[in-house]
Amino acid sequence: MNAEEISLEEVKVKPVVDHLNDLLANYHIHYQKLRGCHWNVKGPSFFTLHLKFEELYTAALLTIDELAERILSLGKAPYSTFNDYIKTAEIKEIQTIGLKDTLMVKAIIDDLAFLIAKEREILNITADAGDDGTNDMVNRFMQFNEKNTWMLRSFVNED
Ligand SMILES: [Fe+2]
Repeated sequence: MNAEEISLEEVKVKPVVDHLNDLLANYHIHYQKLRGCHWNVKGPSFFTLHLKFEELYTAALLTIDELAERILSLGKAPYSTFNDYIKTAEIKEIQTIGLKDTLMVKAIIDDLAFLIAKEREILNITADAGDDGTNDMVNRFMQFNEKNTWMLRSFVNED
């Protein structure tokens, strides 16, 4: 299958797919960071953050699957190895063992800022490609990240 099967121009869809694969790789590193935070958080905020990180990694997992299946719908293969994720992602892994809870939250805020910037870029690229389906999907991911940025910044008392 190629993009023409769903009435999109192959040449215009190529940059969309490349950026979706890039976003997929970044989400994978972000996802594993959230798991590490969920497992290793300590202190009086344990019950709050343990649950919040679980909510976020569960959402990230669904996002990852939607991204991969959108890439397939556009006729291409999603990255599916850790090797590809680590090579491609700009979001970096961190050591969460022994990391202070507020620094965990700040690390996640930084990831969300990066993901939002990438998603905004993809919104422009999908608009140019006439790919409203991807545009709509990525817009949802971005809104989720924007809302959670507000909540996590409130948690660490940042305006
Ligand atoms: Fe758990």
